[in-house]
Amino acid sequence: MTKNQTFGRREFLKTAAAAAGVASLPNFAFAQGAKIRVGLMLPYTGIYAQLGVAITNGFKLAVTENGGKLGGREIEYFTVDDESDPSKATDNANKLVTRDKVDVLIGTVHSGVEMGIVKIARESGVLHINPNAGAAAATGALCAPNIFRTSFTNWQPAYPMGKVLADRGIKRVVTLTHKYAAGDEAIEGFKEGFTKAGGTVVKELSLPFPSEEFQSLLTEIASIKPDAVFVFFAGSAGIKLIKDWKAAGLKGKIGLYGSGFLTDGILEAVGDAAEGIETTLHYGDGIETPKNKTFRLNYAKTFKLQPDVYAVQGYDAGQLLVAGLKAVKGDMNKKKELITAMETAKIDSPRGVWTMSKAHNPIQDIYLRKVVGKENKVMGVAHKALADPARGCKMG
Ligand code: PHB
Repeated sequence: MTKNQTFGRREFLKTAAAAAGVASLPNFAFAQGAKIRVGLMLPYTGIYAQLGVAITNGFKLAVTENGGKLGGREIEYFTVDDESDPSKATDNANKLVTRDKVDVLIGTVHSGVEMGIVKIARESGVLHINPNAGAAAATGALCAPNIFRTSFTNWQPAYPMGKVLADRGIKRVVTLTHKYAAGDEAIEGFKEGFTKAGGTVVKELSLPFPSEEFQSLLTEIASIKPDAVFVFFAGSAGIKLIKDWKAAGLKGKIGLYGSGFLTDGILEAVGDAAEGIETTLHYGDGIETPKNKTFRLNYAKTFKLQPDVYAVQGYDAGQLLVAGLKAVKGDMNKKKELITAMETAKIDSPRGVWTMSKAHNPIQDIYLRKVVGKENKVMGVAHKALADPARGCKMG
């Protein structure tokens, strides 16, 4: 479902023409004045609903800080709830591009849905910024000049945890994930880092997305007795797993680790069951920079919510678009200059300054974090300036 949140382009043209006291004017007269049409295709229902909201909030905060405009132009939003449903993805993306004629398509969270957006972005050439979904192919085999990501690849935050655990003498690990691209790629990343450092993955467990029925899997883990468990879960699935882990008596017996999505944005809801869980991610709540402090303050004040990694990624999608459109003074027709400006932007992010890889994915520090109270506290840098290998990308 698409919701046009302000009045349409045609009405705008009519109003503008009336205001100018003329019946009609050639189109080019409006090229700079027309609103930028921004498509937001994100989950607003289901297990990733809160992630979609945080990304939207972050994006809008960046725009507000830029005076509510992009390249001097007002904005018109077109919003779609993609429900984290890959079967609806190409239709939803196509509607935004062909019916709503968006200038830029921002989305999404779920890697399977992202594949639908990538297909439409490649076919139409519309500018696309991905503020979360970690699917390797988006900046790998299917990379393209008009496709950018402000988040991570699924490999990126998982890979460094392998060495962290091996360095602690952990030898036998069981992995657990939702069975879909994001989970599979995160587990592969962890396994690559862990086996390179001398560890062994003794069993790979999974359950279908978006099931949260962990009971039998936790029983199996208890019987295997590994040194540790590495997981990929996010949103409400993280809350359920952490609570079930404690209820099953595994907390304090077997170490639970993961990509930091496990504990991001859920600490208010999960209570003390998450205390002490260590994860790796490109953001942490207490990063001691003026940029992060200001961001956290402004976000909390504006939305009456604490920001998380998703809010940061949405905010950086906004910052990236601000940088691109500033370079072309709002003229989306200057595609080449726009893309060059986005490729060379230095994003002053709450996570720390980052730049784009040749494949259009952030090169960024991956932090080791630990849950302390209601905070994902940064304990150190697990891997400095990590770039995704971008396997299969022929660009750049
Ligand atoms: C993904 O599907 O790529 C995904 C979803 C949620 C996350 C991270 C990655 O937190």
